[in-house]
Amino acid sequence: MSVYGKLEEEKVFKDPVHRYIHVKDELIWELIGTKEFQRLRRIKQLGTTYITFHGAEHTRFNHSLGVYEITRRILEVFKGRPHWQEKERLLTLSAALLHDIGHGPFSHAFEKIFGTDHEEWTRAIILGDSEVNQILKKVSPTFPQAVSDVIEKTYPNKLVTSIISSQIDADRMDYLLRDAYYTGVSYGHFDMERILRVMRPTEEQVVIKQSGMHAVEDYIMSRYQMYWQVYFHPVSRSAEVIINNIFKRVKDLYKQGYTFKQEPIHFYSFFHEKVSLDDYLQLDEAITLYYFQVWQGEDDRILSDLCVRFLNRNLFKYTEFNPNQWMNDWPKLQELFRKADIDPSYYLVVDSSSDLPYDFYRPGEEGERLPIHLVLPNGKIRELSRESDVVEAISGKKRTDHKLYFPLDLISDNKENEQVKKEIMAILQIM
Ligand code: NI
Repeated sequence: MSVYGKLEEEKVFKDPVHRYIHVKDELIWELIGTKEFQRLRRIKQLGTTYITFHGAEHTRFNHSLGVYEITRRILEVFKGRPHWQEKERLLTLSAALLHDIGHGPFSHAFEKIFGTDHEEWTRAIILGDSEVNQILKKVSPTFPQAVSDVIEKTYPNKLVTSIISSQIDADRMDYLLRDAYYTGVSYGHFDMERILRVMRPTEEQVVIKQSGMHAVEDYIMSRYQMYWQVYFHPVSRSAEVIINNIFKRVKDLYKQGYTFKQEPIHFYSFFHEKVSLDDYLQLDEAITLYYFQVWQGEDDRILSDLCVRFLNRNLFKYTEFNPNQWMNDWPKLQELFRKADIDPSYYLVVDSSSDLPYDFYRPGEEGERLPIHLVLPNGKIRELSRESDVVEAISGKKRTDHKLYFPLDLISDNKENEQVKKEIMAILQIM
């Protein structure tokens, strides 16, 4: 038996999305208190989205507690039902709480430049030398590995993994509701209480009673709308492009032997790609923003300019980008940028976003996403898009959006070469 039991008194967190988050287990309470989990308070859930929707300052800490709470409520519905084994409860709750523990500052831009992977760091934190690991080990020597396996979806009990990671799981339900709440948008809401009440355990995965189908349709539509209205917002992406290029410029300067006024010591191990767990855990958004602040004063014109842009929200402008025209215009545009003394490797960026709102199982595609299954009154199981016309209409349709980002102000301020400026503008307009 585990050394952990129930808390003498239940702890509660006030939460604007779920009203209250209830903690009854000593294990969960101790995990929340670790330095690795507290670090998530310094990582924003939506990266640069706050640049567009100023309310979106919520953190991975809020979201992780929310995913834990939804999971706890699902397990209350499952208690005593066939296929659900109560002995999996603490494992499922721990995996829910820790599923995002490896995220770093401005994850997207950061991972692209430094080649780190938050899933690998999640594994490293759970299995490595950390406070989280110390606590998990006290449950049993094999418990940390089991938590990691659930998060990586390799755990043999598929019902457990589907609660945390499938097309309708605790993670997605929390982030949709939470991101809608904090951005203040009117889409993204759906009736989670209703969905929780109609979730049923089977041997393979969570299924939904047919009577809850319309609530699930609403959930899928809200996911679709949130992607295009919030997550792929072109202005947030512009801010992300700039952060990306700040990291890129710093790395390039370091490799060229540039002498920094303010040595970026917190990034050294990332430049050398020899990052220890401690190095990784130290780097949060507070440190990152500190460097953006001081690099504004660097002598390197590009680094300084990009930092000033990000901090003062003087972002790149964008235009639709047609990849078919890429072949003709791209080299020409780069050449013109060079003539205008604007380095295209930092100031001319194509960014693409794509989403598949709902997909049924197609082996080998999209990470083999598990479809949503309905259980009919006669006990038969049907895949959702076969029952729902609404879902059928948007199933398997991938939408991709390409945008070209560039600093319009630098181009239009270029007084020296009017001809170059005219040519650039002409190309940008037809792209
Ligand atoms: Ni998450």
